[in-house]
Amino acid sequence: MKFFVDTADTGEIKTLAEAGLIDGVTTNPSLIAKSGRPFAEVIAEICELTPGHVSAEVVATEYDTMVSEGRKLQKIAPNVAVKLPLTLDGLRACRTLADEDTAVNVTLCFSANQALLAAKAGATYISPFIGRLDDINVDGMELIEDIRTIYDNYMFETEILAASIRTPNHVKLSALAGADVATVPPNVLRGLINHPLTDKGLAAFLADAEKAGVKV
Ligand code: E4P
Repeated sequence: MKFFVDTADTGEIKTLAEAGLIDGVTTNPSLIAKSGRPFAEVIAEICELTPGHVSAEVVATEYDTMVSEGRKLQKIAPNVAVKLPLTLDGLRACRTLADEDTAVNVTLCFSANQALLAAKAGATYISPFIGRLDDINVDGMELIEDIRTIYDNYMFETEILAASIRTPNHVKLSALAGADVATVPPNVLRGLINHPLTDKGLAAFLADAEKAGVKV
């Protein structure tokens, strides 16, 4: 399973990339706005920090402008994946950009049928939003399982990118359900490392080593 980090914070991305923990990055208009920096500048900087795909989302809602924004974003760096919302115009723009060999991440997916349409439109990634489904009491993991079954039934190559991940348990369940990628906020990614028994065990080993004067 690949890990993408879901942020536009370049400091965080740099640290996590240097630790070898990430395979790419996802952003959305809200995350870009939070960075307080110009869109193209921040995407260009992120693309330098990772060789993996960096999702950059259009803000247009009509086909023609979606395609021209997508082409503009793609010119920033070869590892940009253009992020398009799952609407009729978004699916049409997905087909156009995919036919030009541009990587496309179709976002805001909340149903298996939407994921089926995105795969047929040639999406590189489909982003089902787990956390936002959980927020309204719908099991997001069931959606990942359904998409996995459908994509395997028809041998679609579109990768399932589990998004809107809020907890370490979401990461584990997405992996068990067969997601290809999980995009994870930095704090959740760091949370995957921690276990109280690791800390306790390490403290005991170090105390024993110090007592016995062990040197490496
Ligand atoms: C990633 O592609 C999505 O934009 C992101 O995971 C949304 O997460 P949220 O529902 O926590 O805002």
